[in-house]
Amino acid sequence: MTDTTISALADPVREWERGAWCLAALALAARGEAGSLTHAARDVLEAAGVPEHTLASSPLTPAQIEALASAGLLKTAGLLTGRDVSWADQSDDALRAQGQASGIAAAMFAQFVVPNYPELGARLAQPGARMLDVGTGVGALGAGFAIAFPALSVTGIDVMPRVLELAQQTVAEAGLQERMELRLQDVAALDEEGVYDLAWLPAPFVPERAFTEGVRRIARALRPGGMVMIGHGRLEGPPVDDALTRLQTIAYGGTPIDGAAATDLLTELRLGDAKTLQTPPGAPGITVAFR
Ligand SMILES: C[S@@+](CC[C@H](N)C(=O)[O-])C[C@H]1O[C@@H](n2cnc3c(N)ncnc32)[C@H](O)[C@@H]1O
Repeated sequence: MTDTTISALADPVREWERGAWCLAALALAARGEAGSLTHAARDVLEAAGVPEHTLASSPLTPAQIEALASAGLLKTAGLLTGRDVSWADQSDDALRAQGQASGIAAAMFAQFVVPNYPELGARLAQPGARMLDVGTGVGALGAGFAIAFPALSVTGIDVMPRVLELAQQTVAEAGLQERMELRLQDVAALDEEGVYDLAWLPAPFVPERAFTEGVRRIARALRPGGMVMIGHGRLEGPPVDDALTRLQTIAYGGTPIDGAAATDLLTELRLGDAKTLQTPPGAPGITVAFR
């Protein structure tokens, strides 16, 4: 290797390693054990512009902050050591923290989707309105929709019994027992017709075979005029971001589609007005269509 190739690698490696260590510092500071490691971690955060009071004033618990900061590190370490960490292997705190992050989806939906489709907003406000939340996880996203739309009943389905137990807690804590139903079910086995006004399908978390069959079954499960909303990676950013999104989606066993592929898929299923919506930077891509 020449000097130039060594320095061409050294600079990015140094930068990326810095990011990994900053995340580790955040996890350690949140864990907060007594000792010099925690002090040093707090110094890193302070110098990086994340002082201790930022952690204390976060709506997340320290355990959730630790889980969020370490999720990517544990996943990548697992990939490299052959001891892969799946979604199911994470702690309850990690699942809750990630679920809580997806809980803001309902607010985003109200802000960025409903204004484009006022009829849908009116439909979701009608008594008897129903939503399907695929991959409901700890139920935060579904609960967020039920809270944002007080007439809406939500059916959350997931393939993991353990997350459904956590989702039961979310439902009970939010007092949504009357309006949120949870089911152990693979979206590829969904067998309902004409019952939902809105369906959410997060491509990055659903394996490709289940996704392809699931979207077909969702199309049938919608009421006429109902909307399917596919969440997907945004593969239109800087090339490195797009390539990372693909890598992460494959590593997590999901479906790496973008807005154009989602639009084609929904159109092939004879759903109408398929369109990828504008979402803010950092938010997932969303492609919608109507039955
Ligand atoms: C990132 S989590 C969703 C988080 C969720 N929005 C929340 O509020 O907690 C993705 C979920 O999709 C579920 N999942 C994966 N494949 C599925 C399938 N074929 N059918 C239904 N759920 C599936 C996983 O078990 C996992 O719980």
